[in-house]
Amino acid sequence: MAKKSVLDFADMKRKGEKVTWITAYDFPTAMLVEQAGIDMILVGDSVGMVVYGYPGTLPVTMDQIMFHTEAVRRGAPNTFVVGDMPFLSYQKSVSDAIENAGRFYKEANVDAVKLEGGKRVTAQVRGIVDSGMVVIGHIGLTPQSSAQLGGFKAQGNTAAAAVALIEDAKAIEEAGASILLVEGVPPETGKAITQALSIPVYGIGAGPHCDGQLLIVSDMLGMFEVFTPKFVKKYADLAGAIRQAFGEYAREIREGKFPTDDYCYKMKAGEAEKLATMLGQSL
Ligand code: KIV
Repeated sequence: MAKKSVLDFADMKRKGEKVTWITAYDFPTAMLVEQAGIDMILVGDSVGMVVYGYPGTLPVTMDQIMFHTEAVRRGAPNTFVVGDMPFLSYQKSVSDAIENAGRFYKEANVDAVKLEGGKRVTAQVRGIVDSGMVVIGHIGLTPQSSAQLGGFKAQGNTAAAAVALIEDAKAIEEAGASILLVEGVPPETGKAITQALSIPVYGIGAGPHCDGQLLIVSDMLGMFEVFTPKFVKKYADLAGAIRQAFGEYAREIREGKFPTDDYCYKMKAGEAEKLATMLGQSL
């Protein structure tokens, strides 16, 4: 399948075709995502929680996310890859934002960068776009500002809060973003934002009316059991399958059932006997 561009995504919105999007953090997962024909990969700063075990996304650094983004690009050379700008890589200044967005392009050959926030990050969005890069906005439940939101809580669940989010969404579109991600809002709010913008609006926990859907790979594969947001559908139980495999492996070692001959290298002909004679012991 040919790699899609932002023009394809704009076209898909016009035609009412849904976009598929998933996170990935490593080479083998990225390969599988590409083989499955998923449209987009987000190398999210959720890596901090689901790979590094931090309680939130704030500790993730540019260097950390770059390693993961480079690995994902190697695994999925023909998929639209988005680099997620970590906390304090863009908030302090437009110049920081351009510099760090540029790192994603130069070092990991991404197709877009994503950053969190509405009106308050429009200068950064404009700066990155004016430098020739593609920006995806992210509003609603924005994990990097979870302290201000009172935790990982649904947003836009009153009429006034929904209107404020629509204003944020329009500001991000006007600043030049090509796509908007909306997280953790009721379907009515997700629909209103999707209808208010001419750029594609994708949702994670924003209901079925968005132009596309995103899920975190470890959540949808049933790999991450620390907590599961309401919007996650588990398409597999990899944690269960992995636990079972680990248990079986340990049992077979303890019972002397692994490794059998099938999993052992062979001495060259006659060499085992020669070695036994040299050592004066049977082998
Ligand atoms: O980091 C991430 O995976 C994200 C999603 C939660 C939207 O930003």
